[in-house]
Amino acid sequence: MGHSTAKLSLDDFPEPEQVVRLRAQLLEWYGRMGRDLPWRRTRDPYAIWISEIMLQQTQVKTVLPYYQRWLIALPTVTDLADADLETVLKLWEGLGYYTRARNLHKTAQAIVKEHGGVFPETARQLQVLPGIGRSTAGAIASSAFGRCEAILDANVRRVLGRLLAVDDPPARAEAKLWEISQRLVDPQAPHNFNQALMDLGATVCTARSPLCLLCPWQADCLGRRSGEPTRFPVRPARTVRSEIAGVSVLIECQGKFLLVRRPERGLLAGLWEFPFVESVGGGEPEETVRMAFGNRLESLERLGQVEHEFTHRHLTAQVLWARWAATLDELPDCIEHREHAWVAPEHWPEYAMPAYVRKICRLQCLQ
Ligand code: ADE
Repeated sequence: MGHSTAKLSLDDFPEPEQVVRLRAQLLEWYGRMGRDLPWRRTRDPYAIWISEIMLQQTQVKTVLPYYQRWLIALPTVTDLADADLETVLKLWEGLGYYTRARNLHKTAQAIVKEHGGVFPETARQLQVLPGIGRSTAGAIASSAFGRCEAILDANVRRVLGRLLAVDDPPARAEAKLWEISQRLVDPQAPHNFNQALMDLGATVCTARSPLCLLCPWQADCLGRRSGEPTRFPVRPARTVRSEIAGVSVLIECQGKFLLVRRPERGLLAGLWEFPFVESVGGGEPEETVRMAFGNRLESLERLGQVEHEFTHRHLTAQVLWARWAATLDELPDCIEHREHAWVAPEHWPEYAMPAYVRKICRLQCLQ
């Protein structure tokens, strides 16, 4: 009870004894209430990776039979790498978001070819692989390798956002929440701690009706103490999205750069731009680009950042340069159905481009 008046905010967080207490409370709760799930009984990075990818957009109860079936059909990363894509897609059938299955296949082949069949152990290395974002990388590194790495999926975002009553706009909140997650994760028990966070979000700190009285963190939780825990963290407004953040990629091949034409409707309709990938979840720009374009982009290099104000939106674009490791006839999958052109810089002025793209052209005196 003596703890219930403790003040918790990011400025003075962590106070060492608070962090110790929060860790102990969560782990004690997990010991009693944590779910017994098959991927928690193994340290096999392959099995854990498969489970995390399946769980990315899909509920635990849906994933369970798929997970079991998959590991029987393809028990090792080499089996997956050697399987044909049809087999892989068939095993995935019904789970949705099939890019996840394609990425699993690609990543298995990369692990076999580039890592001798052995999983890299750090979140940083894992994140480079197709389909593995920052949070999934943290989950694999902590679960399979006992590394003290943070996670931040939708459930954890909600738990931590409430714990510290984070009310910043989403883009800023994201950085803060990562910071909180990293400060909290228990170096003595990163696997159980992260799994416990996920369970707390899934079973107690639920989106609409959190069961605060069952929560091990109820005494410290600023969201609960505000009387309105569901206000936190602030969610992006559904209708007007004022911030657009992403990456513009200058993809070069034989001295020409890939331009794509924007759709005939909507913002900047019909104008030409460098391929632009919106970032979701605040990952590194290189990661965002690799997710979208796969590994035929080489020598990624950061050129800088441009900002631009539209009537209802503010755009922030990181600018990357990359070499296209294929021919002019081949295109990244995500561009294939769009009007496009490979254009040398001296011909760029012949294309109608929005102001933010002109800013990019000026970044490194490309024009
Ligand atoms: N959602 C994402 N990863 C999960 C895990 N390891 N256990 C339960 N739910 C999850």
